[in-house]
Amino acid sequence: MDFFDVVASRHSVRTYKPDPVPDEMITQCLEAARAAPSWRNGQCWRFVVVRDRQIIAQLAGQRVYGYPINSWLRSAPVVVVACAAPGESGEHDGIPYWAVDTAIAMEHLVLAATALGLGTCWIGGFNESPVRALLGIPDGSKVVAYTPLGFPAEAEGLMGRTVKTIARSYSRKPLEKIVFYERWG
Ligand SMILES: Cc1cc2nc3c(=O)[nH]c(=O)nc-3n(C[C@H](O)[C@H](O)[C@H](O)COP(=O)(O)O)c2cc1C
Repeated sequence: MDFFDVVASRHSVRTYKPDPVPDEMITQCLEAARAAPSWRNGQCWRFVVVRDRQIIAQLAGQRVYGYPINSWLRSAPVVVVACAAPGESGEHDGIPYWAVDTAIAMEHLVLAATALGLGTCWIGGFNESPVRALLGIPDGSKVVAYTPLGFPAEAEGLMGRTVKTIARSYSRKPLEKIVFYERWG
């Protein structure tokens, strides 16, 4: 797939086929993440690849603001949890580059997955401490986000459609509203 087709076809997938994802595909996605740029090339990212159904079910069952908002995650055959070791990155003028670095790497992974025909969905709606305990993430490291990885089911389920409607996922601000030339305004 051409790069611009990859960018255009990426969207959040919230319903997955149970088919396993071949290890080579997972590795290709992780290699794409590994190639990402980072603050002083610190490469502070770490990825936990979860295939255990029980652990995925526990991630999916987490309640955020009282609701299991990402319960649809249960259908995913793989979840990749992106973590950061902040000490290997830096902070400048109030910008925590460990979060920036890890987000860039994660998006590399997401776009690679899209190019391979796999579905993904960024997930930031989680409580960090139970995720840390569940996955044995050491003190001093942060959980930044996670994404399911799997073959999209033919049609988006009701939950996926509902989330897309609430999040207004199909709309994007026009360039005129987000781009300025020479000076802001
Ligand atoms: C940092 C971040 C956190 C997100 N967290 C969640 C989440 O917890 N659950 C969810 O269903 N979608 C989540 N999303 C997906 C967004 O809702 C989605 O990207 C947005 O609505 C645009 O839709 P699209 O990805 O289909 O283009 C998150 C996206 C980002 C970038």
